[in-house]
Amino acid sequence: MSLEQTVSQHYTHGNLEAALLAAVQRAGKNLETLTYADLAVVDEFHIGGRPATAALGEQIDLPASAKVLDVGCGIGGPARFFAAERGWQVEGIDLTAEYVEVAKALSKRVGMADKVSFRQASAGSLPFDAASFDGAYMIHVGMNIADKKPVFAGIRRVLKPSGVFAIYDAMRQSDGTFSYPVPWSSEPATNHIATPEAYKAALKEAGFEVVKERNRREAGLQSMQQRTGGPPVVMGETAVQKVGNMRALLEAGVFAPVELIARAV
Ligand SMILES: C[S@@+](CC[C@H](N)C(=O)[O-])C[C@H]1O[C@@H](n2cnc3c(N)ncnc32)[C@H](O)[C@@H]1O
Repeated sequence: MSLEQTVSQHYTHGNLEAALLAAVQRAGKNLETLTYADLAVVDEFHIGGRPATAALGEQIDLPASAKVLDVGCGIGGPARFFAAERGWQVEGIDLTAEYVEVAKALSKRVGMADKVSFRQASAGSLPFDAASFDGAYMIHVGMNIADKKPVFAGIRRVLKPSGVFAIYDAMRQSDGTFSYPVPWSSEPATNHIATPEAYKAALKEAGFEVVKERNRREAGLQSMQQRTGGPPVVMGETAVQKVGNMRALLEAGVFAPVELIARAV
């Protein structure tokens, strides 16, 4: 099985849409009048949830109606948030077929099917013309990508000149052994967590200039301490172990969530 197949298998839930809607109802939301904002309790699959998406968005200087690529869009929480709050036209791609189907279904359910679009594709082989996006972002995806430089080069290709590329990923901070599963991997073979220095070198080689770096360790720890409402449904049956292992690694300083803002040169 290829790395991409194993990654996709790790994320596939099997009955995700129904499980998410049940969780939304348990959180007291009415399915008949659901909005993109109501979905925030379930549709952001990264450390810090919606506030972390908003914090990353503050670093992305793009006007309303900008065309923006979401690399590894998951079930579409960040894409719907940016489309609704910033007026961007967001196109998401993701390896995991079930996530793409759920992203489409949830967007339709909240009346946003014309504002966001999703398709199954690999970040390593983007199905878009050169210079077709004003900006791109990638949230908690790079940990599954072994060779980041060609992926960044592909993102550079589809960006217009000076286009912004914002990354918010879990990045290695020190040596330390991983216990599995973590939210992005069930085994070492799919865990390609890298240091900020490795990201920055790959970005530079791919034709980007890194203009900003921000370590989000404290915000990440705080969000874990404050989290209510049970383990994230999107993580499936092993959610409790995944979150527990991740939290221990974050507390031990083995990794931290980090933002990098880059610009195509
Ligand atoms: C932790 S989830 C984050 C989802 C979303 N970005 C979010 O923050 O809600 C990681 C996502 O990356 C996707 N992914 C991993 N490797 C990928 C690749 N090479 N190409 C496209 N998507 C990938 C997975 O399928 C999964 O949906």
